[in-house]
Amino acid sequence: MLTAEDNNLLCRVGRGTPMGEALRQYWLPCLPSAELTDRDGEPVRVRLLGEDLIAFRDSDGKAGLIQNACPHRGASLFFGRNEEAGLRCVYHGWKFDISGACVDMPNEPAESNFKHKIKAAAYPTRERNGVIWAYMGPLAEPPELPFLEWNLVPENQVQISIRYQECNWVQAVEGGIDSSHVSFLHRWFGDEANARGEGNMYRAKDSQPRFEVADTSYGVLIGACRDASDDSYYWRITQFLMPFYTMIPPQGADPAVGGHAWVPMDDETTATWTIGWHPTRPIVETNRNRNLNQTMDLVREYNLDPNVAGVLPKTSKAGGAWRPVANPRNDYMLNQEIQRTKLFCGIVVGRTQDQAMQESMGPIYDRTKEHLGASDTAIIRVRRRWISAAKALKDDGTPPPGALEPEAYHVRSVSQVFKRNVIWTEAARALWQIKPGVPIHAV
Ligand code: FES
Ligand SMILES: [Fe+2]
Repeated sequence: MLTAEDNNLLCRVGRGTPMGEALRQYWLPCLPSAELTDRDGEPVRVRLLGEDLIAFRDSDGKAGLIQNACPHRGASLFFGRNEEAGLRCVYHGWKFDISGACVDMPNEPAESNFKHKIKAAAYPTRERNGVIWAYMGPLAEPPELPFLEWNLVPENQVQISIRYQECNWVQAVEGGIDSSHVSFLHRWFGDEANARGEGNMYRAKDSQPRFEVADTSYGVLIGACRDASDDSYYWRITQFLMPFYTMIPPQGADPAVGGHAWVPMDDETTATWTIGWHPTRPIVETNRNRNLNQTMDLVREYNLDPNVAGVLPKTSKAGGAWRPVANPRNDYMLNQEIQRTKLFCGIVVGRTQDQAMQESMGPIYDRTKEHLGASDTAIIRVRRRWISAAKALKDDGTPPPGALEPEAYHVRSVSQVFKRNVIWTEAARALWQIKPGVPIHAV
């Protein structure tokens, strides 16, 4: 349970709030590169940490990110003309380059010096592996992008998708680090379960994992331990990386890996990035296709709306999309017959299962009302890390964990069976440290 004061501190992300300022110390994934296709192409609306921004690609191909409201009299630059090296407001023609400088002011006298005094808020961007990143922090020279594995492998080894969630970012991240729910929310019965691998079997067999957690320089290491055999444990070791990255422990031999970035758009909306990558070769969609095929089998068997599988809209442009087809207005297409017979929760798409639970807690969950148990150990530790980071920055300017240590992000999650007598952090260390070009071995 948290006090109302700490809950507020955790969840609010606007400029000037303690957590909002802490988040602004990090590079933030802001938009898929594919959204800004052409030089001088269409501008795109971006909402990030409660700020309304406009992204555009200039004539040199560089991505700009500037305030939405024109500094003149506030018209939206979304309607702007993306011209030679700048975005021109269509109301009175003021033009801004990607640094926010006003480079033309055609409705003022030519001899006027006024335009040199005007600057739009603009944030530095970087682009890598299909993601445009933004830095909204105070440093004139921002650090490097975090050395997340998906940020360092070649682009054809990475796959990105994004969806908007109608809830605060904290409850979304908490879903991402909560290994306990996996035995319930995502559980399939019978044949479907068998098709989902060895790890799934251990998770189904032992639904009471014991949690051990350890702080790291970049976040928290979370070990969830389940019985495997009389003399071994199945360990699902998850990395939480500040401020909002999670990595799903890999499964099987030479697997692709998955992770999330839960990026706060504002206090009540989260952009959930799902990132798949393969450490050594171009990514193949085996897992995803298998899950999709299983979903489509259900669609046919139960005569469901085929849209249920098409949860991801393709663009953010028309009508502010990235909004899943399954949503609170249609109860996420819950099917109670499937709930009785095949699938614990009855919501047929995995990511929708998570989204439904996280959103059903309300726009900002009131943590004064919760009752945390032993299975919530990791959540308690991550909250402590967030709260102390935000307070330390506010009190004496201490940079939050990992913000200035991009290289510390070069780690993996782990899924492995160890003998009962070994110490998990020692046995797993070699597995979470990345050796470029070396494939993963997991169960
Ligand atoms: S409001 Fe943009 S130029 Fe006047
Ligand atoms: Fe989940």
